[in-house]
Amino acid sequence: MKLLTNKHIVLGITGSIAAYKSTTLASMLTKAGAKVDVVMTASAAKLVAPLTFQSVTGRRVYVDDDLWQGGSHVLHIDLGQKNDAFLIAPATANTIAKLAHGLADNLLAVTALASRTPLLVAPAMDGGMYANPATQANLRILAERGMTIIGPAAGHLASGLSGKGRMVEPEELFGRLRMVLGADGPLSGRKVVVTAGGTREPIDPVRVITNRSSGKQGYALAQAALDLGAAVTLISAPTCLTAPFGAALLNVTTADEMLTAVMGAVEDADVLIMAAAVADFKPAEQADEKIKKAGGVPTLTLEPTLDVLGAVAALPQSRPRLMVGFAAESQNLLENAQSKLSAKQLDLIVANDISAPQAGFDVDTNRVTLLRADGEKRDLPLMSKAEVAERVLGVVVDLLEDL
Ligand code: CTP
Repeated sequence: MKLLTNKHIVLGITGSIAAYKSTTLASMLTKAGAKVDVVMTASAAKLVAPLTFQSVTGRRVYVDDDLWQGGSHVLHIDLGQKNDAFLIAPATANTIAKLAHGLADNLLAVTALASRTPLLVAPAMDGGMYANPATQANLRILAERGMTIIGPAAGHLASGLSGKGRMVEPEELFGRLRMVLGADGPLSGRKVVVTAGGTREPIDPVRVITNRSSGKQGYALAQAALDLGAAVTLISAPTCLTAPFGAALLNVTTADEMLTAVMGAVEDADVLIMAAAVADFKPAEQADEKIKKAGGVPTLTLEPTLDVLGAVAALPQSRPRLMVGFAAESQNLLENAQSKLSAKQLDLIVANDISAPQAGFDVDTNRVTLLRADGEKRDLPLMSKAEVAERVLGVVVDLLEDL
């Protein structure tokens, strides 16, 4: 993953039982290409062995003894200054108090004090400790200093009680880190609208006409735009996917709902990427009650839906600066894609041969050709949908720069 490749992340672990969840976060970051330096307090090291973090990150883990021994005699300055992001997760009430008052009595606290990058803090503690005015005042101090406080979430606590104090899940922490790292990217200050998934057109309250789109490519595009710093609205037809953290999600079901949502979202957008498989036809009538078998085989009359890209292209003023479409084809890929590029007045079309092995619906890989309105053509080899998304967004950045 481009955004995280070789990024230096300091991950501070303090003495909350949620420390075990941070092993998952450390693993996710490492798999995404980041160099994760874990710094543990003494209490954290009682809950999870440093060796566990060392095993998932493939890097040495720092504990208090390292402040006085070993390679670098200014370890805390090194760690504090040479990172791209610094996250303390879980952060106990004690560590939050230390940060608020500038205490530096362990390796993590002294590293945080020396850090030049904005700190992210994910509190985790008992509900009463979190609600305590002292903790609340300390968190306010951190927020006022520009630190990002993530959570805590409400739910079951280690005490057996239920309340606000749980560390947010590793997936959200991962998403928040991505947003911090991408914040100053080339799409910062831009709004990108992405559509995804296959619409469903109801026949009766039970049955629908739909298609095989999984939404994977569209969701990957939304994530890639977020990674470049864009504000992303993801308009999604039903999928089994979790929206990328930080995207504004609008759920729709039918082609008509997709059209309404897109028309609303593009008003102030810079880019529209239509990755959704929008139904071209819908039942002319929807039965109010379930159509019964005993009535015989029904005849369905279909009528066309409106073309979303066509409607956006026809907008007099609020047409986004760039429009990207997809052409999912089973034959004459490039000819069909080229004619859609011109007919729909697109700046870029992603031509997708759905008959190619490991490409198209429901798989994690794709094989596409990128055709630009200025005639430039780029054939991409088989790659993950995340990589395809990065390449598409790369062209979007280039095209925006040229405008
Ligand atoms: N599209 C759209 N509105 C529709 C149907 C499609 O905006 N009602 C968009 C898709 O999201 C895609 C592009 O148009 O970006 C091409 O979609 P595709 O289904 O390949 O082409 P169609 O125009 O529907 O033509 P055909 O189905 O005949 O290939």
